[in-house]
Amino acid sequence: MFSRLRISRYAQSQKHQRNSKKSVIEKQQSNYSQTIMTSLTLDGLKICCIGAGYVGGPTMAVLASHCPTVRVCVVDLSQPRIDAWNSDRLPIYEPGLKDVVEKCRGKNLFFSTDIEPEIAAADVIFVAVNTPTKTYGIGAGSASNVKNIELCARTIAKVSKHSKIIVEKSTVPVQTASAMKRVLAANSEFCKFQVLSNPEFLAEGTAIRDLEDPSRVLIGGDQDEDGQRAMRLLVEVYAQWIPRENIITTNVWSSELSKLVANAYLAQRISSINSISALCEATKADVDEVARAVGTDRRIGKAFLRSSVGFGGSCFQKDILNLVYLCESFGLQEVADYWRSVVTMNDWQKKRFAQKMIRTMFNSVSGKKIAVFGFAFKKDTGDTRETAAAYVSKYLLEERAQLSVYDPQVTKEEMFMEFKYTLNLTEDTLPGLSNLIKLEDNYLDAVKGAHAIAIMTEWDCFKEYDYQKIYDVMTKPAFIFDGRNILDHQKLIDIGFEVKAIGKVYEQ
Ligand code: UDX
Ligand code: UDX
Repeated sequence: MFSRLRISRYAQSQKHQRNSKKSVIEKQQSNYSQTIMTSLTLDGLKICCIGAGYVGGPTMAVLASHCPTVRVCVVDLSQPRIDAWNSDRLPIYEPGLKDVVEKCRGKNLFFSTDIEPEIAAADVIFVAVNTPTKTYGIGAGSASNVKNIELCARTIAKVSKHSKIIVEKSTVPVQTASAMKRVLAANSEFCKFQVLSNPEFLAEGTAIRDLEDPSRVLIGGDQDEDGQRAMRLLVEVYAQWIPRENIITTNVWSSELSKLVANAYLAQRISSINSISALCEATKADVDEVARAVGTDRRIGKAFLRSSVGFGGSCFQKDILNLVYLCESFGLQEVADYWRSVVTMNDWQKKRFAQKMIRTMFNSVSGKKIAVFGFAFKKDTGDTRETAAAYVSKYLLEERAQLSVYDPQVTKEEMFMEFKYTLNLTEDTLPGLSNLIKLEDNYLDAVKGAHAIAIMTEWDCFKEYDYQKIYDVMTKPAFIFDGRNILDHQKLIDIGFEVKAIGKVYEQ
């Protein structure tokens, strides 16, 4: 009994000591956090961005150019990527990017692989690492892999010696900020972290324009005093070049969800018009005329009504599948099915295009040379992630077509990487692959002797080619499959081409 009492007293006193120690730490933390938060201004602010990709690189370059008193350092695990950012040949192609980078690089913009020291020194850390769709385990095929985000949080907690604001830039599942906050809190005794959500809405090819003059900037944060203070600082950063009325602040979850919903809405518009393109081909209506007639209703609007061979890019499909996963995890199966159908329609559009090519070319493309114009997922970028061109090519390659691809920006390595990682198309899965597909240096080599041209990307240069000259060197009948409806079809028909477009039918 006595010893039990002693133990209990001992335990109580230990508990008391622990509590008072905890309260000292909490007090220190809170004092420290208040000092850091209140003392932060743009003068001498240190920003570090983890992830020097399509999002991190351009976003930080534009930020640095408008905030000369802020030191910005973009860090990445990949040495070749950082070397490229520090060279004359940047790792990504984006109109206007080089000028912005050259203006600030070495002054207040730096690129480095010294990840830990840069994180330790920073006051604000943007997290812009990739969050691809999971390929294994729970949620495989739809949930986002947030492993990279968690690793960032653990590294930040490990190396931080002072409190920081963490800004979630990567598109993430809803509630990732709160998971990050827990990982940070559990691994750091003295520092306090505010986690903000600040999703990126830039589109590739127009990234600099979108960053310079965005429709809006969205910042989500905690509603308590510290959260508000952190949000105010980030608003201050963006207000250096963006009107304050275009900077929206919300709670964290609304901000995270808004990003997914914005992309889902945009993609849904494309799938909607693409579904109508099939109906147009059946009824002989013209999808461009329908889109124009519908889009001039101010309530509907004209944007994102261009029917195509299918949307691509690293975001649309991934974000919709993320939304689907989220709905399913909350038992909202009907909502999940509704959004999943946007992806199903997109898959069907790509397949339908390839099947139409095969059917038109007398049900056999085996051994026939086909020129593929464009491999990037859209014009003005060299990005091939989720590009419709890869899916269409896969269908044609499986039929043993001989593909000659020409794209002004895409490299052979990127093309094969996309085949491998997105479509599992390799020499192992399709023996002879490297002999079946070639990336040409110029379009004339691609069309020489070809039976058909397939327009996969809407590059402006494709509109300017001399199609009479092209027709003359092709095998007859010469087909053009315009997957972007960008060419002058009547002119091509007059030259002698047989033209198949999206959502329109020509009597030939
Ligand atoms: C990525 C996501 O794809 C997108 O969903 C999100 O909104 C923002 O981040 P992006 O910049 O296009 O967009 O990705 P990517 O070009 O792949 O760049 C990510 C970079 O992060 C890569 O250079 C990679 O090396 C780097 N990285 C990844 C790290 O430095 N550390 C990591 O732990 C993981
Ligand atoms: C998209 C969002 O627009 C951007 O806000 C977000 O931050 C990232 O995802 P991005 O993928 O770079 O940007 O390009 P976007 O211009 O949206 O095009 C996506 C795909 O849709 C491309 O393959 C494009 O060719 C296709 N598309 C677009 C159509 O097929 N028809 C259209 O009318 C518009």
